[in-house]
Amino acid sequence: MRTFQLLRQAILARLPPQLRAFLARSFVLVQKNQHMTSAHSKPALATMSPGAAYAAPIRDLIASMETTKIGQVANLGRGDADVIKLWFGESDVKTPAFINRAATKALDEGHTFYTWQRGIPPLREAIARYTSRVYGIDCDTDRITVMGSGMQVIVLCCQAILDAGDNVVVVSPAWPNVSQAIEVMGADARPVRQILKGDRWTLDLDQLFARVDSRTRAIFVNSPCNPTGWMMTSEEQKAVLDFCRKRRIWLLADEVYARLVYDRDVAPSFLHHATPDDPLIVVQSFSKPWAMTGWRLGWMTSPAAFGDKMANLVQFNTSGSPAFLQYGALAAIEEGEEFLKSMVERCRAGGEIVFQRLAALPRVRVARPQATFYAFFAVDGMTDSLAFAQKLVREARVGLAPGSAFGDGGEGYLRLCFAQSPERLVEALDRMEPFLR
Ligand SMILES: Cc1ncc(COP(=O)(O)O)c(C=O)c1O
Repeated sequence: MRTFQLLRQAILARLPPQLRAFLARSFVLVQKNQHMTSAHSKPALATMSPGAAYAAPIRDLIASMETTKIGQVANLGRGDADVIKLWFGESDVKTPAFINRAATKALDEGHTFYTWQRGIPPLREAIARYTSRVYGIDCDTDRITVMGSGMQVIVLCCQAILDAGDNVVVVSPAWPNVSQAIEVMGADARPVRQILKGDRWTLDLDQLFARVDSRTRAIFVNSPCNPTGWMMTSEEQKAVLDFCRKRRIWLLADEVYARLVYDRDVAPSFLHHATPDDPLIVVQSFSKPWAMTGWRLGWMTSPAAFGDKMANLVQFNTSGSPAFLQYGALAAIEEGEEFLKSMVERCRAGGEIVFQRLAALPRVRVARPQATFYAFFAVDGMTDSLAFAQKLVREARVGLAPGSAFGDGGEGYLRLCFAQSPERLVEALDRMEPFLR
């Protein structure tokens, strides 16, 4: 029997990842069905489980996960200094010195102990003041919870609200980590596509609402959107919040690009329409506005009671974000407006360079960026964006993210992060152009 198991594991380990993933998905479905009919019987397909192919079994859902498509492109040139890397969502600017100084001072002062699960009080208070100032609303400190990144906010919210078999309706194309966080919980991410009309991305709210069913626990809206740069209007936000209120489902609003907008100071926010106890969770991050991607700090604005509960999940996850880093974040939020302006100007200039050059190419369709720091552009005749992006790394020495990485509606597109110096962008465009003609 033991020999048979070892043989089976060896065979599974050698299967191509796609086939292993297919077997895992079928296996999970069979398991779910069997669970419904007979809670005690062992699944008959256990012998095919990809999770069993490890030194000891792991969850099939995890075993079947593949490297993300952006990762598959980045792995080709990550360590190669000659490749211009525009595949991830970050700028080439280092964190400004005034933020670093605040963190190192806190480190020297001994802020090196376990800390508050919901964040150090001075930071939570400063974020509440910032929210009131930037959005012109009243925001109490008890609505603010600091966590170890925007990503962690999303993951812990999924843990808090999703059971296996539930679903979240996600506006798509979308940053891939969101559906992965949902699927890790055994829940489904249900995409609803944005549509490119002329040079504007739009969303049909009737389609969005029609995807909600009795197992829907949340609607996930990322506006301004990574990758398309689409922004939901304030009227649309009001309608979506009203819908969620009536259906008693959560509205997970990812607003991490709220300050990276080019025609106003801040993007429309669901916060403008919400009462403190509405089912609204706004995900925010220090990463993008203050060049702090490596710090891993973000926050959520939510009903106070939900924030209190989330303190437990933080406890069972990281047990809190490092206090000395939070002092750096405090400097960012209190003194960071000037730096933020320079960041917006840098991105505006980068976006314009990229837009002008791409729009001049007959095979390329691109919208002028309104927000975020991405150009998401279609290339006529490109049917496999992953293969195309890999070719660009190998032959043009430029790294972009393939549109297919962003799920439904993403194939046929490439994403370029333009939060870079004009010189690097011009060089990247010079190198890419022959492949886009
Ligand atoms: C749409 C979106 N949400 C959330 C995040 C998470 O940001 P972080 O985990 O760096 O705070 C990102 C990062 O790329 C993003 O693009």
